[in-house]
Parts: sequence; structure tokens; C-alpha cells
Amino acid sequence: MHMMTIAHTDLDVSRVGVGCMSLAGPAEKARAWVDAVLASGVNLFDHADIYGGAGRKERLFGEVLKAEPGLRERMIIQSKCGIRSTGDPTPNAPGRYDFSYEHIVQSAQRSIERLQCGHLDIFLLHRPDPLVEPEEVARAFDDLHKAGTVRHFGVSNHTPVQIELLKKHANRPIIVNQIQLSVAHTHVLDQGIVANQNVGGAVGRGEGSLEYARLNDMLVQAWSPLARGFLSGRPIPPEKEKMNEAAGVVQAIARERGVAAETVLTAWLLRIPARIQPIVGTQNLERLKNACAADELALTREEWYRLFIAGRGGRLP
Ligand SMILES: NC(=O)c1ccc[n+]([C@@H]2O[C@H](COP(=O)([O-])OP(=O)(O)OC[C@H]3O[C@@H](n4cnc5c(N)ncnc54)[C@H](OP(=O)(O)O)[C@@H]3O)[C@@H](O)[C@H]2O)c1
Repeated sequence: MHMMTIAHTDLDVSRVGVGCMSLAGPAEKARAWVDAVLASGVNLFDHADIYGGAGRKERLFGEVLKAEPGLRERMIIQSKCGIRSTGDPTPNAPGRYDFSYEHIVQSAQRSIERLQCGHLDIFLLHRPDPLVEPEEVARAFDDLHKAGTVRHFGVSNHTPVQIELLKKHANRPIIVNQIQLSVAHTHVLDQGIVANQNVGGAVGRGEGSLEYARLNDMLVQAWSPLARGFLSGRPIPPEKEKMNEAAGVVQAIARERGVAAETVLTAWLLRIPARIQPIVGTQNLERLKNACAADELALTREEWYRLFIAGRGGRLP
């Protein structure tokens, strides 16, 4: 597995990372998965306080680290905060976003306690909060960094303008934006080719996200890179039937190249010049191995466009 250094940091991360949203217990099973991930050369583990509800996935991961503390130094651990559940902390509180100083600081501390990991290498703001006060976020980042709680900061699902707003006050670099991107979810690529055309109505497409990341040397992480399996063998339900064509192209290229469908899906992301880091969510060791094999598969320009066109659901303008 190739490694890369995240700009503005001394962090060396694997080209492919893994997500722990679906981490399966009990602890021995989770440990076997963590071992397989590390053995495949992947060192970045993505978490969030909400995974599994009430910190359950972080807690499970923490059990693995507690049983084998030596694993910690072989990992880059990142988590996220800012999404709060219905009923937290009072019964009439709605599901919402919270980028207040108190919530950010407390969330980082609690994630570290659950993960039993000493500090977070990267901490992301999960989804943009319309009530964000960038000065407050900057103060939270400063204090967490000064206390040694968090080494680096990033965001998820943010637009370039929202990142600029945070940067107006931030004293620490914003090093990552984690967004949904796969053959089945191409909006940030689409917007670059449909400018000045009447398509997509008022859909927000994350205008300029990839170009902004390249201009500012930010890492882009892709969530749901395997499209949750629907392009690689998982039965496609009727309401997702327009995925059939893309699934067919993925299978065809997999056959032509003699690789697995997960390899094709992951290689498609690695081919994007913005240096995407796919955050693969599978617990299945065969699928994990296949996704990691993408590091050795260079798709041609023609293959990449066949997948893009099928995934976006129509030929190019
Ligand atoms: N920032 C955000 O807002 C955000 C949102 C969502 C996720 N994330 C992060 O991104 C990571 C990856 O997300 P994801 O899990 O949606 O990504 P994914 O890698 O696209 O999908 C993995 C999921 O699809 C299933 N799957 C894959 N291939 C399959 C097949 N052939 N048949 C049946 N099931 C199949 C996997 O089950 P198996 O385990 O059985 O393979 C697993 O549940 C998460 O763990 C999380 O860390 C971030």
C-alpha cells in the first residue's frame, strides 16, 4: 500500500483508509478486523461519536486498543463531532448540529475516553452548522491543540466557502474535507462539467470542492466509496434501479482487468488527480483486500470515463 503525507502535517497515511461506522463486535471480532486492516497496509481509521449511537463503535474500538495498547502507535485515528441526536440532552431537543465551543471540546475529550487512544490525530466537524461562529470554533481548536488532545483538524460535508469562513479565524490549518464520492455519487465532479447549463435544478453540488482542495493542498476523503455494495454485487432494490447500468460497467471492467468489482470502484477514486483517500467501510475481509488492491490498478482515461458516465447516468455535455 502506497503512503502519502497529508499537507501541512507530518502524518503519513495509507492511500486507502477504513471507516468504523459498521465496526462489528464482539471485541475479538473487531480485533481480527483491525489486525487485517493493518496487515493490508492501511493505517487510517475513521470514527465519529454518533457511529452505532451513543459512542458504541468508538467504545468497541477502545476495547481493542485496551487489550493491545501497542496497536495505537501503528494507527492514525480520526473522529468527528457536531451531530447531536434527538433527545440530547433534553427530551424535546431535535436532531441537530452543534459547533459550539463547549460541544466541540467535550466531544473530543469523550471520543478519546471511549477510544482509549490518548489523543486524536485528526478531528473533523461532521456536517456544517448554520449557527457556526468561526471564532468559537477557532478557540476550541486552539485549546484542544494546546492541551495535546487533538493534533490536526478538518471538516466533513463542507463547501469551499464554508471552509473559507472557518479559515478566517482558525489558527490551525484545516487539512481534510470528507465528502460523499463514488461511481454512484458524482456531484462534485458533475458540477465541473455542467457549468452554465440548465441541469440538476437547484441541487447543491459542492461547487469547486475538488478544485478548492487542490488549490489549498487539502486532503479529500471519500465516504461510501463502494456505494454500499450496490455496484459490486449487492442486489439493487427497485427504487435504485438506475444503478443497474453503472453496476454493469463496473462488472465489465472488473472482468476485462481480471480484478474484483471493489478494486475497480476504489481505483476509480484513486485515479482522480485531487488525490482522494477512499474511506472504505466494509467489515468483510475479502472485500477489504479487494479494495486495497486498487492501489496497484491504474485505470485508463477511457475506463475512468466509462465508469463516470454510467455513474452520473448519462453521456457528457
Ligand atoms: N462524513 C460522513 O458524513 C460519513 C457518512 C457515512 C460514512 N462515513 C464514513 O465512511 C465510511 C464508509 O462508509 P460506508 O460504509 O457507507 O462505505 P462503503 O465502503 O461504500 O460501504 C460499506 C458497506 O456496504 C456493504 N457492502 C459492500 N459491498 C457489499 C456487497 N457486495 N454486498 C453486500 N454488502 C456490501 C458493507 O457490508 P460488509 O461489511 O458486509 O462488506 C458495508 O456495510 C464509514 O465507515 C464512515 O467512517 C462518513
